Amino acid sequence: PTIYAITPTYSRPVQKAELTRLANTLRQVARLHWILVEDAATRSELVSRFVAGAGLPCTHLHVPTPRRYKRPGLPRATEQRNAGLAWLRQRHQHLPAPQPGVLFFADDDNTYSLELFHEMRTTRKVSVWPVGLVGGRRYERPVVENGKVVGWYTGWRADRPFAIDMAGFAVSLQVILSHPKAVFKRRGSQPGMQESDFLKQITTVEELEPKANNCTKVLVWHTRTEKVNLANEPKYHLDTVNIEV
Ligand code: UGA
Ligand code: MN
Repeated sequence: PTIYAITPTYSRPVQKAELTRLANTLRQVARLHWILVEDAATRSELVSRFVAGAGLPCTHLHVPTPRRYKRPGLPRATEQRNAGLAWLRQRHQHLPAPQPGVLFFADDDNTYSLELFHEMRTTRKVSVWPVGLVGGRRYERPVVENGKVVGWYTGWRADRPFAIDMAGFAVSLQVILSHPKAVFKRRGSQPGMQESDFLKQITTVEELEPKANNCTKVLVWHTRTEKVNLANEPKYHLDTVNIEV
């Protein structure tokens, strides 16, 4: 199957650095299609140029987050992930034969081992695995007994039906196509509940397929990039050239 990675991304000083690091990983994955969705009213020149030189199959979409949703404490990238889902459904729904595929939500700032992509490629419906450096712990993971998920090792909101980060699961294209209404929701979705609210629409805990040696290996890290210090950016006496960073 082809792996489809949906990456929401937004303009900020570290954006090109994040995308460069992520592309360097994804470029090494066979049969991968990158769906890069800009949180913007138009495709930016920076990302367009980046995609053109990225050296991997990539679809470049854009949709702006409405301004009322750009507030701390609200979920991020809802509209962008939904745009990726809509593109995927539209592209596949009219094909005569179902194409094998696996969908994964790859935020632009996380760290992904190549082994993770080997693991997720065998997803039949929905697969899950541990995520490092998240939830106020060294890792969170699905707790597995006899090959089935029976609970969640988490330090944060253990009441979540699927106590898992966006980086902790993959979904087969078949499941995405057979649940055409499953989307990320703004209404009623608190931060941290997006994953649960989405997974509830397409699967059950009993059905989950544990990967990464029964969820005992961390193959993805929820790294977050430090905000850059631009305190010394000049307001006048600008540089004589305009360099893209
Ligand atoms: C955590 C989860 O890991 C995310 O999957 C979830 O979307 C997010 O919380 C949330 O609060 O909704 P965190 O590291 O706090 O992640 O979030 P970011 O990495 O800042 O954002 C997640 C993704 O959305 C990134 O790919 C980022 O580039 C993108 N994003 C963020 C936008 O497209 N627009 C924004 O305004 C902010
Ligand atoms: Mn992040």
